[in-house]
Amino acid sequence: MEPNVADSAKTQVNGVSRRDFIKFCTGVAASMGLSASFVPEIAAAVTSPQRPPVIWLSGQECTGCVESLLRTDHPTIDNLIFDLISLEYSETLNAGSGHQAEHHRAMSIEANKGKFILVVDGAIPVKDGGVYCQIAGKPVLDILNETAPQAAAVIAIGSCAAWGGVAAASPNPTGATPVHEILKDKGIPVVNIPGCPPNPYNFLTTVIHYLTFNKLPALDDKMRPKFAYSRRIHENCERRPHFDAGRFAEEFGDEGHRQGYCLYKLGCKGPETFNNCSTVHFGGVSSTGCWPVATGAPCFGCSEENVGFSSPLFAKAKVTSPTPPFAFNDAVPGQKGGAKNFAYGVAGAAIGATAVALVKKDGKKE
Ligand code: SF4
Ligand code: SF4
Ligand code: F3S
Repeated sequence: MEPNVADSAKTQVNGVSRRDFIKFCTGVAASMGLSASFVPEIAAAVTSPQRPPVIWLSGQECTGCVESLLRTDHPTIDNLIFDLISLEYSETLNAGSGHQAEHHRAMSIEANKGKFILVVDGAIPVKDGGVYCQIAGKPVLDILNETAPQAAAVIAIGSCAAWGGVAAASPNPTGATPVHEILKDKGIPVVNIPGCPPNPYNFLTTVIHYLTFNKLPALDDKMRPKFAYSRRIHENCERRPHFDAGRFAEEFGDEGHRQGYCLYKLGCKGPETFNNCSTVHFGGVSSTGCWPVATGAPCFGCSEENVGFSSPLFAKAKVTSPTPPFAFNDAVPGQKGGAKNFAYGVAGAAIGATAVALVKKDGKKE
């Protein structure tokens, strides 16, 4: 029988109204790049009593990734744990501890072989047999190697798990390694959800995609879900009109900074960082969430493999997109302001607008 949104909505729990529930499902469909016709399927999946078992391992991490997930408010963490997934093991959120928790992990892996999702936050140290990060006296390297082959899929959440992040910064004394590097010869599907911390809604949408379609979302060449990482932050930044008009903060706290001008000259890496922070806010500090640039902090490219933890903080980002106009400014190295650039800018803006329109018209494309 065709799943029915209204019926599904009636069965939802924890006091979420039907209106909010349908809004939530519609938002999830939109963030996956799907039309509203998929809402009934998503509604049926998220209200299904069949919840995928999730085992969450932590390597070299700071707990920020889990903290970010704890701050979700649509759904809340209790909605997530009780309604969407069956969280079998998480060192941060376990009710039990010690032998009890380890025993439960082993039992759960045995009972859910080939069916559970393995989530990993933090990098995995490989130097000296992995002794620099141990859980219950065992290197997390060994735990990952034993657990991953039995999982249906692996989600590496956060830039530490996806790229090595903080722990892998030079000189990387522990041999901190990304999860996909450890598993590359094992033929196990790995999804990277980078960010420091990562946007929890990208993780949730990946899980809901798996619940709804029984497969992982389409990934780019860095194993990131395309629905979240196919656009640069700069493309949808709320300060973009200031960039295009040449209005920049020159120093923290100056008049431009107080006026909400573009943060490019303060080292904002939005022009070379692929992520959806500027459209899917998170952090829960307001009704619409938040993101670094909205608070006046330049994006430091936390989710980009070769930007966040390798570029100097105040270095100017490369601007490679054909549209910005660079109209009245000389902010971009090699670009000068003036009438000529203004003309190029208008042409560039027109080309960019056309490109966006074409992508939108082609329903088969991402
Ligand atoms: Fe912490 Fe960032 Fe690493 Fe997550 S990605 S564990 S928030 S340092
Ligand atoms: Fe926004 Fe940064 Fe781009 Fe300026 S440079 S428009 S602050 S993303
Ligand atoms: Fe990270 Fe930049 Fe988004 S610092 S959280 S990718 S705005």
